[in-house]
Amino acid sequence: MAILKIARMGHPVLLTQAAPVADPAAPDIARLVADMFETMDDASGTGLAAPQVHVPLRLFVFRVSAARVTGAPDDPPQGNTVLINPEITPLDEEKVSWWEGCLSVPGMRGAVPRWRRVRYRGFGLDGKEIVAEVSGFHADVVQHENDHLDGLLYPMRMTDLRLFGFNEELSRAVAAPGKGGA
Ligand code: NI
Repeated sequence: MAILKIARMGHPVLLTQAAPVADPAAPDIARLVADMFETMDDASGTGLAAPQVHVPLRLFVFRVSAARVTGAPDDPPQGNTVLINPEITPLDEEKVSWWEGCLSVPGMRGAVPRWRRVRYRGFGLDGKEIVAEVSGFHADVVQHENDHLDGLLYPMRMTDLRLFGFNEELSRAVAAPGKGGA
């Protein structure tokens, strides 16, 4: 196990289209995912995508902490989870804004419109398919992480850049955003 170096905004690896994982059950993928969990936990993050640790493959890890959930039945707390070769589909037309941070954009936060409810599918380390329909914080996290696989960082999704800034400054004014980048 190892704590990996996290690429920061401006590094080309964060702007690349990541490649599909050929074999989700391969031992080198299991090693990478173990290191990504350790790196995410060390950084007190809530999600981490492989390109953020300089590996341009389509996989990410995340967790849904009890402190961040909305209380909706399809937004339950969830421990450390991996999703390999994910696909995300919106389940309705509605978007909601979330305060997001990102371990690749340290010290900052912004309000980002995201699909309210999504279905996602992908694979676990055992090679078995994972399918879920989620809303709330869970839906926000997977959309943020999936964007990393397409070379998108959350500021690129923002529609009001007045709601983008440094954590310390934002906490003076608007509803103080929570901690925990992704
Ligand atoms: Ni991120």
